[in-house]
Amino acid sequence: MVEREKIDEIIRRTDIVDLVSQYIQLKRVGKNYRALCPFHAERDPSFYVNPEKQIYYCFGCKKGGNAISFLMDYEHLDFPDALRKLAKNLGIDIDTTKNLKYKELYEVNEYAAQFYSLILSKEVGRRGQNYLKERKIDLEKIKDFRLGFAPSSGGLITFMRQKGIGIERLNQSGLISQNREIFHDRIIFPIFNLSGRIIGFGGRGIDDYIQPKYLNSPETPIFKKGEILYGLYQAKESMRARNEAILVEGYFDLLSLYQQGITNISAPLGTALTENQVMLISRYAKKANLLFDRDPSGIKATLRAIGLLINAQVDVYVTVLPEGYDPDSFIKEKGAQELAKLFSSSIDFFTFYKNSVKIDSVEGEISLIRDLIEIISKIQDPLRFDRYLRYAARVFELSPDVIIKEMKKKDLPQKKELKEKTSPQEKIIMLIFNNLQYLHRAKEVLKPEDFTEEKVKRVYELLIKDETFNIADLSKYLVEERLREKILSSLIKEERVSEEDFVRALCLYKNNLRRSSLKKDIVEAIKKDDKESLKKIKEFLTRKN
Ligand code: UTP
Ligand code: MN
Repeated sequence: MVEREKIDEIIRRTDIVDLVSQYIQLKRVGKNYRALCPFHAERDPSFYVNPEKQIYYCFGCKKGGNAISFLMDYEHLDFPDALRKLAKNLGIDIDTTKNLKYKELYEVNEYAAQFYSLILSKEVGRRGQNYLKERKIDLEKIKDFRLGFAPSSGGLITFMRQKGIGIERLNQSGLISQNREIFHDRIIFPIFNLSGRIIGFGGRGIDDYIQPKYLNSPETPIFKKGEILYGLYQAKESMRARNEAILVEGYFDLLSLYQQGITNISAPLGTALTENQVMLISRYAKKANLLFDRDPSGIKATLRAIGLLINAQVDVYVTVLPEGYDPDSFIKEKGAQELAKLFSSSIDFFTFYKNSVKIDSVEGEISLIRDLIEIISKIQDPLRFDRYLRYAARVFELSPDVIIKEMKKKDLPQKKELKEKTSPQEKIIMLIFNNLQYLHRAKEVLKPEDFTEEKVKRVYELLIKDETFNIADLSKYLVEERLREKILSSLIKEERVSEEDFVRALCLYKNNLRRSSLKKDIVEAIKKDDKESLKKIKEFLTRKN
């Protein structure tokens, strides 16, 4: 572990405005900086950076924290990697090699990839080789993907033992379950994160009797299926260069196209596309081309992806395969040139949406129009928005005014946000976070017991126990979500107060607390006719005043 002092030094010396500016364009508004949030799709900026307190917070999606959490969120790094990156910017040398949990998982995965790929190259992997040959995979051309094979005989556990990795760690990585290897007779697809480290695996059974057809290793602290795409690591530079991302459904679709030179390609991991994945894609390409299977589930996936991508300001096109093909079978049978032709006849999302939704009634048409208007209303680029607006008007024979009216109707309910009440205790803890320079004064006045709300008490305990506790730790220590959000938002909105005012506010709170507990005591004592207690309370009250 890196010592706490070093972490603090790195945070202290990093300027969050400089850091965030490397990724998105910030605009000064008063004491804060503002931008469109990089973590969710929005039309009006609600992402704020406060230079004084060195934090950021988005009032829309509620993500927030300090420089380290920003890097973790934005670059999808784990804590040690984010820290290392900040340190590097500052020219500070840190050694995070002892930083456990994540590193150990990466290591197990790396060794596992070595094992599976070794097997594929050997005689025991003959069935895997044959399977890939049959599917026309040219391993030479897709070396970067480091495919492997899990034999029926297993061997991973023994291999790991030789590397000094025991059952316990293998269990944590999800590669064994109840002391049994999870992959047998499967082609293995290592899944990479954006830094090129292996975080999990997919496995395709080489025979029909092996079920399910595809199996992914389970989620672990480093592997969240909705937060990464298969092939993105290998594809991202090519996506950036072409400013276009091709999305397919499956591992083999991807590899078949990749080996033919279509390298700006990615695939979700067997689940529906998530907002998170779409944000990743939008970082590398402003245009997406969807090449999903032409079956009901493929169409459904396409419609869903369209909404998400438009939301993230990615322009979407759809390439429609002929009936009965998926990208893999198409390129195999017809070749890359035919596929190129197909790509050149891609249609825009609007046309695809309209064509793929069956209309058999006026109501059906109205609901289709509403869906499409909703999608179009999310387009920020004025030129593109105008183009689609006019297009929709023409196609549905409506005036643009009617469409705009419909959009405004949709917008309204979202803006009416429910304001949640903030309790006096929460207000005090927010005040303390806003004025951490006076934490020592808070300690003089308030004990953890002075908070009766459990979540507030817990935060205060953490705060006074650890001098260096900071807002990034709010999520680390699993502080209750709403409280965390309130603290962050008050950090952005509220000014610091003077030491005097600070202490005054705390004392006032404490007195109120005392008074109300005293009131309770009095009521109790009167009820029970407890003369002794009443006398004590009276004494106390007269002494105080
Ligand atoms: P498909 O069933 O279309 O498979 O699922 P495919 O890609 O055409 O596979 P092949 O060509 O028969 O080998 C598409 C994707 O859905 C996920 C996988 O990621 C697959 O590539 N999937 C499918 C699973 O996760 N589990 C399954 O059992 C099936
Ligand atoms: Mn398929």
